[in-house]
Amino acid sequence: MLDLDPDALLTTTRAVRKRLDFERPVPRALIEECLEIAFQAPNGGNMNNWRWIVVDDAELMAKVAAIYNGGLDDYVAKLDESGGYPGAVVPRADLISTSVDHLRENFHRLPAVLIPVFAGRMEQANVFYQASSWGSIIQSVWSFMLALRARGLGSAWTTGHLWREADLAELLEIPAHFTQVGLFPIAYTKGTDFKPAFRKDASEVIGWNGFG
Ligand SMILES: Cc1cc2nc3c(=O)[nH]c(=O)nc-3n(C[C@H](O)[C@H](O)[C@H](O)COP(=O)(O)O)c2cc1C
Repeated sequence: MLDLDPDALLTTTRAVRKRLDFERPVPRALIEECLEIAFQAPNGGNMNNWRWIVVDDAELMAKVAAIYNGGLDDYVAKLDESGGYPGAVVPRADLISTSVDHLRENFHRLPAVLIPVFAGRMEQANVFYQASSWGSIIQSVWSFMLALRARGLGSAWTTGHLWREADLAELLEIPAHFTQVGLFPIAYTKGTDFKPAFRKDASEVIGWNGFG
């Protein structure tokens, strides 16, 4: 276990792509340990309406990688149609894109990947059901990423493949009424020193006693 106090763990758990160790195997017992920790996060009504699919078979991983890359291709094509990335301009954005490319090129080499899914579809759901459903799994996923980091492993939140969610559902035989949260690489990191990243200043984003 790394020597990180809670604040250090919370502020240095990064999206790791360039520093994932694609060569080093990750024991299933370690993944299970991190998942057991993740399951302790809150979930609405404690219904545990989830399933946690781990792929660690190399042949299957190649197929998952192809779906991930295809999904990102779909996204990029949509962006081109609509005139470019809609997000804010942030420092070191160029580094994000080379890092994203690195994961794309090496995804098939990952020792393992996690696909959390929850029961229910959000297409027709009102905000209550959306917030309750997503809010009942996202915290566990983040706990999983923190638990990995505490043990010298890393991940990155990725949603790119969801442009092709149905393809992955077919590959992994996920029933149609389940929603996929994303794809979460699992690998040891090369080195364990990570730093807090840029975020907008607190004064820009906190509203006391109202939005403004
Ligand atoms: C909802 C969400 C979706 C994301 N999707 C992708 C993705 O498809 N591919 C990828 O490489 N990174 C993805 N990321 C990672 C972000 O790009 C990353 O968190 C961001 O660059 C900030 O880095 P940091 O978390 O280390 O501060 C996603 C992150 C979030 C929270």
